[in-house]
Amino acid sequence: MSILIRGGTVVTAEQSFRSDVFCDNGMIVAVGDGLDAPTGAEVVDAGGQYVMPGGIDPHTHMELPFMGTVASEDFFSGTSAGAAGGNTMIIDFVIPAPQQSLIEAYHQWRGWAEKAATDYSFHVAVTWWGDQVKEEMGVLTREHGVNSFKHFMAYKGAIMVDDGVLLNSFARAQELGALCTVHAENGDAVFHLQKSLLEQGITGPEGHALSRPPQVEGEAAQRAIAIANVLGAPVYIVHVSTEQATQAIARARAAGHRVYGEVLPQHLVIDESVYRDPDWQTAAAYVMSPPFRPKHHQEALWAGLASGGLQTTATDHCCFCAPQKAAGRDNFTKIPNGTGGIEDRMSILWHNGVGTGRLTPNEFVRITSTNCAQIFNLYPRKGAVQVGADADLVVWDPAGTRTISAKTHHQNVDFNIYEGMEVTGVARHTISQGNLVWTDGDLRTVRGAGRYIDRPCHPPVFRAIDRYNELHKAVGVDREVSTAVTP
Ligand code: URP
Ligand code: ZN
Ligand code: ZN
Ligand code: ZN
Repeated sequence: MSILIRGGTVVTAEQSFRSDVFCDNGMIVAVGDGLDAPTGAEVVDAGGQYVMPGGIDPHTHMELPFMGTVASEDFFSGTSAGAAGGNTMIIDFVIPAPQQSLIEAYHQWRGWAEKAATDYSFHVAVTWWGDQVKEEMGVLTREHGVNSFKHFMAYKGAIMVDDGVLLNSFARAQELGALCTVHAENGDAVFHLQKSLLEQGITGPEGHALSRPPQVEGEAAQRAIAIANVLGAPVYIVHVSTEQATQAIARARAAGHRVYGEVLPQHLVIDESVYRDPDWQTAAAYVMSPPFRPKHHQEALWAGLASGGLQTTATDHCCFCAPQKAAGRDNFTKIPNGTGGIEDRMSILWHNGVGTGRLTPNEFVRITSTNCAQIFNLYPRKGAVQVGADADLVVWDPAGTRTISAKTHHQNVDFNIYEGMEVTGVARHTISQGNLVWTDGDLRTVRGAGRYIDRPCHPPVFRAIDRYNELHKAVGVDREVSTAVTP
């Protein structure tokens, strides 16, 4: 199938210009003015609209087995809802159980993901340490296109790892040219606070936020960065939600350390007051980690995005319906952690970012697609509008509006954390592998059409880091054999 996108303004991370875009066989084959439509080509009128690289969500959890249940959104429904919101790729997480083979878990997730409608890739979590893990990290990078590993510093007693595991895994990943990512919350502190709150009789969802105060994230982010710095390794902090973590990243970057930070739109627009909702079910629907914060943290996150101190936006899309959340009726620590939003990420960011003058349209493209593609070594196949790139595009209507609601969304979850918000800036058409998968409100995704995308190790930044580390490697002192006589 070929598509000519005619009359739009191409917006990339670098520039904006009037141009047509012609896609054939899943690739962009021409970008230029006045392109002719070959016979049989579908023509998409993009007059008054922006033609941008499709959104890439680097942090989702489709059908994740977690906290005694399984996330309600599967790879097909989740990538389809994503397409309705202008996304054309996700990077999800393989999360092996402690002691489970990483390769075995990887194949398990690959099986589940076969139903995905758009392209996808995987980070693999390191949830334990041993020679087998070290070996399998190598196999995953060499044979399975994995170039990033995930570490949970929270969820004590389940998938949390300690500093020793972080050191071993970061060092191994550095050797392989793979990027380490971390969920930064001090799991011991969370565990301590949870216990103390329950002893005080606080069992409702408000206990979730109280047990995970901003310092818990600030400390862990700072620690992960320091550990990476000791090894001369880059590090990527997922779902940064606090001023403290944002500042830790900014300080490290100012000192020349390659540290990246990811923000979720929900942390930019929703605050901690949701946990005090008198309705238990509503309050529980917002239980995710890190939790929503006092408002002043939102300004720090926006400033981080505008200044380039924070580079990517994700959703941490991890859906649980009301009956699943109900597992924590009498104990907030048992409420499955997670919220959805893959369908709304781009609109929430456009409306609240570009619409308020916090971001330019080019910065919007950078934080929704291009930076992610560069950091995770998908660029310029993804994240670019240029000849030779995959035809993964969104035709964005900057003036289109919609009101977000669980009644109309395509996500497989019974609640929408943005319920009732009216946003300006919507995906008019989404093109995945050169096919229209979302067009004027018509969702045409195909089960299983998504492809697994290999991500090779050693992106350019790693080559620079390797060179730097080589020039600064530890050297011993070459001493003369001592002739002194020991008394
Ligand atoms: O609450 C969340 N974020 N659930 C998904 C797992 C994680 O921590 O990313
Ligand atoms: Zn294999
Ligand atoms: Zn997390
Ligand atoms: Zn997550």
